[in-house]
Amino acid sequence: MKKLAIASDHAGFDLKESIVAYLHNEGVAVEDFGPVNSDSVDYPDYGMRIAQAILDKEVERGIVICGTGVGMSIVVNRFPGIRGTLCSDLYTTKMCREHNDSNILIMGGRVIGKGLAQEIVKTWLETPFEGGRHQKRLDKIEDIDSKLKSKGEL
Ligand code: RB5
Repeated sequence: MKKLAIASDHAGFDLKESIVAYLHNEGVAVEDFGPVNSDSVDYPDYGMRIAQAILDKEVERGIVICGTGVGMSIVVNRFPGIRGTLCSDLYTTKMCREHNDSNILIMGGRVIGKGLAQEIVKTWLETPFEGGRHQKRLDKIEDIDSKLKSKGEL
């Protein structure tokens, strides 16, 4: 993979720091889009930076973390071309790569522990997209974006 970026809000900060340390330990380069401490911030500000960096092809994939992962899910999936997937188990993590070509991994810092989160990150990074019939389904999602754009609704 070309490049990976990570961001959180205050509720995801501790988990973000532990994932950054884990990735460094594993020799995986990751760009940290912040925040730099656990002072209160707004998750849309950080989620949108990661989504935009992917759409601008500055990075290939991203990891975002808030308290539950729900706020970040809502934010990043507003961006056409983003396939953000909230994961708290390994089966979903594997499937969201194989079937959905997830390009943003979302986790809840107040939901899962650091050990499970590391396994989720490892699985998400290592599992390839299967393509085939799944690509056809992703194409249908892109068609929805195109139709909304042509109607001026996006
Ligand atoms: C912050 O308190 C919390 O609302 C946020 O991290 C996230 O869980 C929102 O969905």
